[in-house]
Amino acid sequence: MRLVRTVAQLRAWRRGLSGTLGFVPTMGYLHEGHLSLVRRSRKENDTTAVSIFVNPTQFGPREDLASYPRDMPRDLALLTKEGTDLIFTPETEEMYPPGFSTWVTVEGLTERLEGASRPGHFRGVATVVAKLFNLMEPHRAYFGQKDAQQLAVIKKMVRELDLDLEIIAVPTAREPDGLAMSSRNIFLTPRERQAALVLHRALSLAEELHQKGQREAGKIREALIELIQTEPLAQIDYVSIARPETLEEMERLDGPALVSLAVRIGSTRLIDNTVLTEGGQHDGAGEGGSYATAHEI
Ligand code: PAJ
Repeated sequence: MRLVRTVAQLRAWRRGLSGTLGFVPTMGYLHEGHLSLVRRSRKENDTTAVSIFVNPTQFGPREDLASYPRDMPRDLALLTKEGTDLIFTPETEEMYPPGFSTWVTVEGLTERLEGASRPGHFRGVATVVAKLFNLMEPHRAYFGQKDAQQLAVIKKMVRELDLDLEIIAVPTAREPDGLAMSSRNIFLTPRERQAALVLHRALSLAEELHQKGQREAGKIREALIELIQTEPLAQIDYVSIARPETLEEMERLDGPALVSLAVRIGSTRLIDNTVLTEGGQHDGAGEGGSYATAHEI
């Protein structure tokens, strides 16, 4: 395993590489979800690189940049165990030198859902990911379905900027009780950890209603909101049923539907989602990326 911290070191490493490169961008504090991306990359590429960079430009002024969990020694040990070939951990100044003023903005798609709740978030994500792609020049890059809107934004950016790589979507890794793995779960108290299960319960209800033939988005939304409201520690930010490619809200479920939730549990904001299709939902179950390939988000 090679550990590099500077752009110059990374470029030198990249120049000496032959075969295919798979890339997994992360903000560290790794869990099984991140590691499932690494494993997938290892399976599909000759070489796998991971970046660990808590990207300040995707955090709002009132968000948790300072308290975002970090544990570099543990991350390095986990990635070494997984057979990662290269880890890139730049300092903030390496990615954003003084006076930095060039941004990648994916319009439209980023104004909804997470973008509406977190203004500027996706500008930060798209900019850092574009920079990382330019530095790494990977053949494939791996993203979690857990962050469905991020995935849609990155796919659109890659398409519209003619970036020469493939984006692979990987299903959401969950705890045995259904809670989607997230670096932020560490902030939950035991009581909140229990309350957080309401997100997965709500998504299961959406799947059940859909399976029983419900095709009115309004009805499904109402049922989900009602269920989430039974949990006293839960505060809904949004419940959305939207087209996976454009994130436009749907009225009738006349095609694949991305059901996504953002719920505050105490002071921790959690997101989760599932995709409803005529053939059954495609989250967690089934082959990773099959949904993304089929519906081109
Ligand atoms: P981070 O939150 O560290 O996530 C890194 C990658 O892991 C993302 O693609 C995310 O979707 C994926 N991931 C997170 N939880 C997952 C889970 N439970 N199952 C499967 N995959 C999961 O997302 C970011 O960092 C940043 O925005 C980044 C893309 C690195 C840009 O800064």
